[in-house]
Amino acid sequence: MIRMEGIQRRYVSDEVETTALADIDLHVERGEFLAIMGPSGCGKSTLLNTLGTVDRPTAGRYLFGDRDLAVLDETALARFRGTTLGFVFQSFNLIDELTIEENVALGLAYRSDAGDRRARVAAAMDKVGIAHRARHFPHQLSGGQQQRAAIARAIVGDPQLILADEPTGNLDLANGEQVMNILSGLNDAGTTIVMVTHSPSHADMAKRRIDMLDGRIVASAARAI
Ligand SMILES: Nc1ncnc2c1ncn2[C@@H]1O[C@H](COP(=O)(O)OP(=O)(O)OP(=O)(O)O)[C@@H](O)[C@H]1O
Ligand SMILES: [Mg+2]
Repeated sequence: MIRMEGIQRRYVSDEVETTALADIDLHVERGEFLAIMGPSGCGKSTLLNTLGTVDRPTAGRYLFGDRDLAVLDETALARFRGTTLGFVFQSFNLIDELTIEENVALGLAYRSDAGDRRARVAAAMDKVGIAHRARHFPHQLSGGQQQRAAIARAIVGDPQLILADEPTGNLDLANGEQVMNILSGLNDAGTTIVMVTHSPSHADMAKRRIDMLDGRIVASAARAI
Protein backbone atom coordinates (compact mmCIF):
# COMPACT_ATOMS: atom_id res chain seq x y z
CA MET A 1 0.00 0.00 0.00
CA ILE A 2 2.76 2.43 1.00
CA ARG A 3 6.28 2.62 -0.33
CA MET A 4 8.62 5.25 1.07
CA GLU A 5 12.15 5.30 -0.24
CA GLY A 6 14.99 7.53 0.92
CA ILE A 7 12.65 9.99 2.59
CA GLN A 8 14.37 13.01 4.14
CA ARG A 9 12.92 16.00 5.96
CA ARG A 10 15.19 18.90 6.84
CA TYR A 11 14.12 22.05 8.61
CA VAL A 12 16.29 25.06 7.92
CA SER A 13 16.01 28.22 10.01
CA ASP A 14 18.40 31.20 10.30
CA GLU A 15 21.08 29.45 12.28
CA VAL A 16 20.25 25.80 12.62
CA GLU A 17 19.48 22.96 10.32
CA THR A 18 17.54 20.05 11.80
CA THR A 19 17.26 16.69 10.09
CA ALA A 20 13.94 15.33 11.33
CA LEU A 21 13.96 12.38 8.92
CA ALA A 22 17.34 11.21 7.70
CA ASP A 23 16.82 8.32 5.30
CA ILE A 24 13.55 6.49 5.73
CA ASP A 25 12.68 3.38 3.77
CA LEU A 26 9.27 2.16 4.86
CA HIS A 27 6.82 -0.24 3.29
CA VAL A 28 3.37 -0.71 4.76
CA GLU A 29 1.14 -3.46 3.43
CA ARG A 30 -2.64 -3.31 3.32
CA GLY A 31 -4.14 -4.58 6.57
CA GLU A 32 -1.07 -3.85 8.69
CA PHE A 33 -1.18 -2.34 12.16
CA LEU A 34 2.18 -0.63 12.61
CA ALA A 35 3.41 1.02 15.81
CA ILE A 36 6.16 3.66 15.73
CA MET A 37 8.20 4.16 18.88
CA GLY A 38 11.27 6.14 19.90
CA PRO A 39 12.44 8.99 22.14
CA SER A 40 11.03 12.50 21.99
CA GLY A 41 12.32 14.42 18.98
CA CYS A 42 13.37 11.35 16.98
CA GLY A 43 10.99 12.17 14.12
CA LYS A 44 7.89 10.07 14.81
CA SER A 45 5.35 12.86 14.24
CA THR A 46 7.29 14.12 11.24
CA LEU A 47 7.12 10.63 9.72
CA LEU A 48 3.40 10.34 10.46
CA ASN A 49 2.71 13.80 9.02
CA THR A 50 4.72 12.88 5.94
CA LEU A 51 2.66 9.69 5.56
CA GLY A 52 -0.39 11.93 5.89
CA THR A 53 0.94 14.39 3.26
CA VAL A 54 0.53 17.34 5.64
CA ASP A 55 4.31 17.54 5.71
CA ARG A 56 6.35 17.26 2.53
CA PRO A 57 9.68 15.45 2.38
CA THR A 58 12.72 17.38 1.19
CA ALA A 59 13.94 14.27 -0.67
CA GLY A 60 12.79 10.75 -1.45
CA ARG A 61 9.86 8.96 -3.00
CA TYR A 62 6.42 8.31 -1.53
CA LEU A 63 4.09 5.99 -3.39
CA PHE A 64 0.57 5.24 -2.16
CA GLY A 65 -0.78 2.29 -4.10
CA ASP A 66 0.38 3.12 -7.62
CA ARG A 67 0.18 6.90 -7.11
CA ASP A 68 3.28 9.05 -6.75
CA LEU A 69 2.16 11.66 -4.25
CA ALA A 70 5.03 14.01 -5.13
CA VAL A 71 3.27 15.06 -8.33
CA LEU A 72 0.00 16.10 -6.64
CA ASP A 73 -0.67 19.79 -5.93
CA GLU A 74 -2.20 21.01 -2.66
CA THR A 75 -5.78 20.69 -3.90
CA ALA A 76 -5.23 17.13 -5.08
CA LEU A 77 -3.46 16.25 -1.83
CA ALA A 78 -6.33 17.63 0.24
CA ARG A 79 -8.72 15.48 -1.79
CA PHE A 80 -6.44 12.46 -1.33
CA ARG A 81 -6.38 13.02 2.43
CA GLY A 82 -10.12 13.62 2.63
CA THR A 83 -11.07 10.46 0.77
CA THR A 84 -8.33 8.02 1.77
CA LEU A 85 -6.94 8.90 5.22
CA GLY A 86 -8.26 9.28 8.74
CA PHE A 87 -6.28 11.23 11.37
CA VAL A 88 -6.33 10.83 15.15
CA PHE A 89 -4.22 13.10 17.36
CA GLN A 90 -3.10 13.15 20.99
CA SER A 91 -5.06 16.37 21.60
CA PHE A 92 -8.28 15.16 19.86
CA ASN A 93 -8.46 18.32 17.66
CA LEU A 94 -12.24 18.63 17.77
CA ILE A 95 -13.77 21.99 16.88
CA ASP A 96 -15.17 23.56 20.06
CA GLU A 97 -17.99 25.47 18.34
CA LEU A 98 -19.43 22.38 16.66
CA THR A 99 -21.44 19.58 18.24
CA ILE A 100 -20.04 16.05 18.29
CA GLU A 101 -22.16 14.98 15.32
CA GLU A 102 -21.11 18.10 13.38
CA ASN A 103 -17.47 17.34 14.17
CA VAL A 104 -17.91 13.75 13.00
CA ALA A 105 -19.62 14.95 9.80
CA LEU A 106 -16.46 16.93 8.94
CA GLY A 107 -14.92 13.57 8.11
CA LEU A 108 -17.26 13.46 5.09
CA ALA A 109 -16.24 16.88 3.76
CA TYR A 110 -14.59 15.36 0.67
CA ARG A 111 -17.09 12.53 0.25
CA SER A 112 -19.73 13.86 -2.12
CA ASP A 113 -20.46 10.19 -2.81
CA ALA A 114 -21.24 9.43 0.81
CA GLY A 115 -24.94 8.64 0.33
CA ASP A 116 -27.01 9.09 3.47
CA ARG A 117 -24.62 11.31 5.44
CA ARG A 118 -26.71 11.40 8.61
CA ALA A 119 -26.87 7.61 8.67
CA ARG A 120 -23.10 7.35 8.19
CA VAL A 121 -22.42 9.86 10.97
CA ALA A 122 -24.83 8.01 13.27
CA ALA A 123 -23.20 4.66 12.46
CA ALA A 124 -19.69 6.01 13.12
CA MET A 125 -20.75 7.48 16.49
CA ASP A 126 -22.47 4.23 17.36
CA LYS A 127 -19.35 2.21 16.57
CA VAL A 128 -17.29 4.10 19.17
CA GLY A 129 -20.09 4.42 21.74
CA ILE A 130 -20.72 8.18 21.70
CA ALA A 131 -24.10 8.29 19.93
CA HIS A 132 -25.74 9.45 23.18
CA ARG A 133 -23.51 12.56 23.13
CA ALA A 134 -24.28 13.58 19.53
CA ARG A 135 -25.72 17.01 20.42
CA HIS A 136 -23.13 17.84 23.05
CA PHE A 137 -20.15 20.09 22.48
CA PRO A 138 -16.59 18.78 22.91
CA HIS A 139 -16.01 20.57 26.26
CA GLN A 140 -19.03 18.72 27.69
CA LEU A 141 -17.33 15.36 27.10
CA SER A 142 -14.63 13.50 28.98
CA GLY A 143 -11.22 13.07 27.36
CA GLY A 144 -11.99 9.47 26.46
CA GLN A 145 -15.29 10.45 24.89
CA GLN A 146 -13.61 13.26 22.93
CA GLN A 147 -11.01 10.86 21.56
CA ARG A 148 -13.72 8.39 20.58
CA ALA A 149 -15.53 11.24 18.78
CA ALA A 150 -12.27 12.04 16.98
CA ILE A 151 -12.02 8.39 15.93
CA ALA A 152 -15.61 8.55 14.64
CA ARG A 153 -14.62 11.59 12.56
CA ALA A 154 -11.59 9.66 11.25
CA ILE A 155 -13.58 6.57 10.24
CA VAL A 156 -16.86 8.07 8.99
CA GLY A 157 -15.46 8.37 5.46
CA ASP A 158 -14.30 4.74 5.52
CA PRO A 159 -10.59 5.54 5.07
CA GLN A 160 -8.02 3.05 3.74
CA LEU A 161 -5.44 4.20 6.28
CA ILE A 162 -5.71 5.60 9.81
CA LEU A 163 -2.79 7.68 11.08
CA ALA A 164 -2.78 8.08 14.86
CA ASP A 165 -0.22 10.23 16.73
CA GLU A 166 -0.14 9.20 20.39
CA PRO A 167 -3.91 8.57 20.42
CA THR A 168 -3.81 7.48 24.07
CA GLY A 169 -1.25 10.10 25.19
CA ASN A 170 -3.77 12.28 27.04
CA LEU A 171 -5.94 9.48 28.40
CA ASP A 172 -5.97 7.51 31.63
CA LEU A 173 -5.38 3.78 31.59
CA ALA A 174 -9.00 2.69 31.17
CA ASN A 175 -9.79 5.18 28.41
CA GLY A 176 -6.51 4.37 26.69
CA GLU A 177 -7.46 0.68 26.66
CA GLN A 178 -10.85 1.51 25.20
CA VAL A 179 -9.28 3.55 22.38
CA MET A 180 -6.77 0.78 21.67
CA ASN A 181 -9.56 -1.80 21.54
CA ILE A 182 -11.43 0.35 19.03
CA LEU A 183 -8.30 0.68 16.87
CA SER A 184 -7.66 -3.07 17.06
CA GLY A 185 -11.25 -3.76 16.04
CA LEU A 186 -10.93 -1.42 13.05
CA ASN A 187 -7.73 -3.20 12.02
CA ASP A 188 -9.41 -6.61 12.41
CA ALA A 189 -12.11 -5.30 10.05
CA GLY A 190 -9.45 -4.45 7.46
CA THR A 191 -8.35 -0.85 8.04
CA THR A 192 -4.61 -0.28 7.84
CA ILE A 193 -3.28 1.64 10.87
CA VAL A 194 -0.02 3.45 11.58
CA MET A 195 0.21 4.65 15.18
CA VAL A 196 2.85 6.57 17.11
CA THR A 197 2.95 5.62 20.79
CA HIS A 198 5.14 5.89 23.87
CA SER A 199 3.36 2.93 25.46
CA PRO A 200 5.10 -0.45 25.01
CA SER A 201 1.90 -2.31 25.89
CA HIS A 202 -0.07 -0.37 23.27
CA ALA A 203 2.69 -0.99 20.73
CA ASP A 204 2.32 -4.70 21.52
CA MET A 205 -1.27 -4.53 20.28
CA ALA A 206 0.04 -3.64 16.81
CA LYS A 207 1.18 -6.34 14.39
CA ARG A 208 4.56 -4.76 13.76
CA ARG A 209 6.70 -2.21 15.53
CA ILE A 210 9.43 0.05 14.27
CA ASP A 211 11.81 1.97 16.50
CA MET A 212 13.23 5.31 15.47
CA LEU A 213 16.29 7.22 16.61
CA ASP A 214 17.60 10.53 15.25
CA GLY A 215 15.37 10.48 12.18
CA ARG A 216 16.12 6.89 11.22
CA ILE A 217 14.37 3.54 11.58
CA VAL A 218 16.75 1.49 13.72
CA ALA A 219 14.66 -1.64 14.30
CA SER A 220 11.59 -3.35 12.89
CA ALA A 221 9.94 -6.37 14.45
CA ALA A 222 6.73 -8.30 13.85
CA ARG A 223 4.75 -9.19 16.94
CA ALA A 224 5.40 -12.69 18.21
CA ILE A 225 2.09 -14.56 18.16
N1 LIG B 1 8.51 23.12 12.29
C1 LIG B 1 9.71 22.70 12.70
N2 LIG B 1 10.81 23.49 12.54
C2 LIG B 1 12.01 23.09 12.94
N3 LIG B 1 12.26 21.88 13.49
C3 LIG B 1 11.22 21.06 13.67
C4 LIG B 1 9.89 21.42 13.30
N4 LIG B 1 9.06 20.37 13.60
C5 LIG B 1 9.83 19.42 14.14
N5 LIG B 1 11.13 19.82 14.20
C6 LIG B 1 12.26 19.03 14.72
O1 LIG B 1 12.28 17.77 14.10
C7 LIG B 1 12.64 16.76 15.03
C8 LIG B 1 11.57 15.69 15.05
O2 LIG B 1 10.37 16.19 15.61
P1 LIG B 1 9.07 15.30 15.81
O3 LIG B 1 7.97 16.19 16.23
O4 LIG B 1 8.86 14.48 14.59
O5 LIG B 1 9.50 14.34 17.03
P2 LIG B 1 8.69 13.21 17.79
O6 LIG B 1 9.47 11.95 17.67
O7 LIG B 1 7.28 13.18 17.33
O8 LIG B 1 8.76 13.67 19.32
P3 LIG B 1 7.67 13.59 20.51
O9 LIG B 1 7.76 12.17 21.04
O10 LIG B 1 8.16 14.57 21.52
O11 LIG B 1 6.33 13.93 19.96
C9 LIG B 1 12.84 17.46 16.36
O12 LIG B 1 14.22 17.68 16.54
C10 LIG B 1 12.12 18.76 16.19
O13 LIG B 1 12.69 19.76 16.97
MG1 LIG C 1 5.45 13.65 18.23
